[in-house]
Amino acid sequence: MVKRKTCVFISGQGSNLKNLITHSRDNSFPIKISLIISNNKNANGIKYAKYYKIPYKYINSKLKNSEREILLLLKTYNITFICLAGYMKIISNKIVNGFKKKIINIHPSLLPKFKGLNTFERVLKSNEKKTGCTVHYVNNKLDDGSMIIKKIFYLKSKDNEITLKQKTQKLEHRAYPEAIIKIFRYR
Ligand code: GAR
Repeated sequence: MVKRKTCVFISGQGSNLKNLITHSRDNSFPIKISLIISNNKNANGIKYAKYYKIPYKYINSKLKNSEREILLLLKTYNITFICLAGYMKIISNKIVNGFKKKIINIHPSLLPKFKGLNTFERVLKSNEKKTGCTVHYVNNKLDDGSMIIKKIFYLKSKDNEITLKQKTQKLEHRAYPEAIIKIFRYR
């Protein structure tokens, strides 16, 4: 099987990155993680890049030429697929248009509900009965684009932001690899 050369974009903890790296080491998993881009030079996720010896690059997304730098890196590493994994920055139109249906994102809510930041706080405040996570294609809008996979759980009265995050991330670690398998199975 020819694996898709994939770049994972991160900003923080990197638990989804670590999970994708683990899956991608399986011969039958459709992607190989060839590059990791972080817009935070202190992102915990960078330690997984180092540990697994995957090329990584910190890009200061506040700088004017950052988009050009990203495009150049994607070209240099022959990247044909992009996974956003906690990348807290909107991807520029140029990158989105160049990778149509080839960039996916994971978000900790049942989209289209609760796009953006502080998801768990907002889920609790609005007394939702259920929540979960969504893997979706990336378009030019924030946390938008057609859905690939959703996973759901029901809230308990004792739930707080910490338990919601734990439960959601546990589901994310199943949802993201499943979404990738789903995408490539039908190609
Ligand atoms: C994940 O929960 C992901 O859904 C969320 O950031 C977290 C990153 O965790 N992404 C978004 O909110 C995107 N809008 P991780 O760094 O441990 O993978």
